[in-house]
Amino acid sequence: MQLRHGYDFSEYAPASLKRRVQQLVRSHATGTISELNRRVLHEEGFVTRVIEGLSVPVSEMFRDPLVFRALRDKVLPVLASYPEINIWQAGCAHGQEVYSLAILLEEAGLYDRTRIYATDFNDAALQMASEGIYATRDARDWSRNYLEAGGLHSFSDYYSARYEFIKLDQRLRRNVTFFNHNLVTDEVFCEAHLILCRNVLIYFNNALQDRTLGLFRDSLVRGGFLCLGTRENVDFSPSAATFGDVDNALRIYQAGATAGRPLAR
Ligand SMILES: C[S@@+](CC[C@H](N)C(=O)[O-])C[C@H]1O[C@@H](n2cnc3c(N)ncnc32)[C@H](O)[C@@H]1O
Repeated sequence: MQLRHGYDFSEYAPASLKRRVQQLVRSHATGTISELNRRVLHEEGFVTRVIEGLSVPVSEMFRDPLVFRALRDKVLPVLASYPEINIWQAGCAHGQEVYSLAILLEEAGLYDRTRIYATDFNDAALQMASEGIYATRDARDWSRNYLEAGGLHSFSDYYSARYEFIKLDQRLRRNVTFFNHNLVTDEVFCEAHLILCRNVLIYFNNALQDRTLGLFRDSLVRGGFLCLGTRENVDFSPSAATFGDVDNALRIYQAGATAGRPLAR
């Protein structure tokens, strides 16, 4: 898989990877891992289905609402001092966090000077993310998340509903670029003021988490922010010295700051 298609899973945390490979063997009725491997090597397009199976593109709008409230209250006021704002959302799955960020920025009056780079290594997930269509049954929970995150309007102002689907307002997509970027093999591509990468590092072993944090460190401007998932942190990594806490419990860090003393601009 690595030699033929360039995907390298050797530094993923073994337990969850094993579960997902077993699931793939079952769902594609290949019977064995070596048969799965044979199809990856020789069957046109099969690798895309395997990447879909190995990636876990589960997300929600304003997931962990207090994190989005803290971004609104503590991070956006600092970003407001930049004439142009670059945000990298790594591991964007089906795009719910991208649209959540776009709404935050719109409500703070910052969206027109922001570019969001939304990346993932799963092309099918990126396609769904760019369409912004979700199940209506999720909208009620997401509306609650939005209000807990300090939303200023009604979440329903941002979508149109049609039977069992909602479609997010495509104006929210206007400053988003979706593209394939693999955190294992690809490099820095922009100078970011904020990087949001939540619930991705949990799938990596420590060495790969460390490499990824190095990539984020090299991408951030001095004073730029990093937001990880609530079960992830920078503490074990040599890159930890680069990041000061903005909110340790919510895993929001700032490059170049000392713990507890955020940098102003
Ligand atoms: C659980 S989702 C997280 C979605 C969202 N960030 C959130 O917290 O709700 C993990 C995402 O990471 C992506 N991912 C896993 N390994 C990756 C890699 N090496 N490079 C880029 N994305 C990766 C998966 O495709 C999946 O969409």
